[in-house]
Amino acid sequence: MNRPVMAANWKMNNGPTTAREFMQTFLAQYPRQNDRTILFFPPTLSMAAVAAALGDRRDILLGVQNVHWADQGAFTGELSVGMVRDAGARVVLVGHSERRHVFGETLDQTALKCAAVERGGLTPMLCVGETLEQREAGRAADVVIEQLRAGFSMMTQLATKDVMVAYEPVWAIGTGHTATADDASRMHRVLRAELIALCGDRARTTPILYGGSVNAANAPELVAAREVDGLLVGGASVDVGSWLAVARA
Ligand code: 13P
Repeated sequence: MNRPVMAANWKMNNGPTTAREFMQTFLAQYPRQNDRTILFFPPTLSMAAVAAALGDRRDILLGVQNVHWADQGAFTGELSVGMVRDAGARVVLVGHSERRHVFGETLDQTALKCAAVERGGLTPMLCVGETLEQREAGRAADVVIEQLRAGFSMMTQLATKDVMVAYEPVWAIGTGHTATADDASRMHRVLRAELIALCGDRARTTPILYGGSVNAANAPELVAAREVDGLLVGGASVDVGSWLAVARA
């Protein structure tokens, strides 16, 4: 099995001062581990604080929660891939459920963003997931396959470049309703098959993370589930105590 990726998505929490304090505590209590990769998606404004705290801790990766697809220009409030790379980001979340459902991000926009991330030499982590309504209508697999195909449709180097995928069922995000390990495995298998069709054999080791109401209690079972290569954690990653417990799961 791959080395699991334990990813913290702080969403709109932990500004620079809090981020600095968080990292100080975290790094003091989390020595270098070779059996897993830790990845932080802080708010972009807190990236400098996290990058400075990380110093030479190359076992921990830095990512961003969102980018614009253009290389530069008149896009008030937006950030380009080049800028976030310059600030230390290696991985970019694309198509997070909140981007899709709160900010109206379309399938086409996720495609443009993944292509921009590839062009900029960073790794996209494409998030996919069905709503409760879609699940109850028996459409969960179709929905995530559509999101996966669309998100990667404009990338040109899928056969050679790294990508990551996160399965985050919308009904499980921030609700306390987590998918069972079996549910997650089943959907990850669907995603794996589709990824192999898109990227070829290298997709057998592409990390597919599960996200949605992960906490210290359920993390061990979820991360041990078949086809689950890591966890993408929102609420339980914001506080350093609970994140330490999840990261060690
Ligand atoms: P919660 O862990 O708060 O449910 O959020 C999951 C998520 O959206 C991570 O990206």
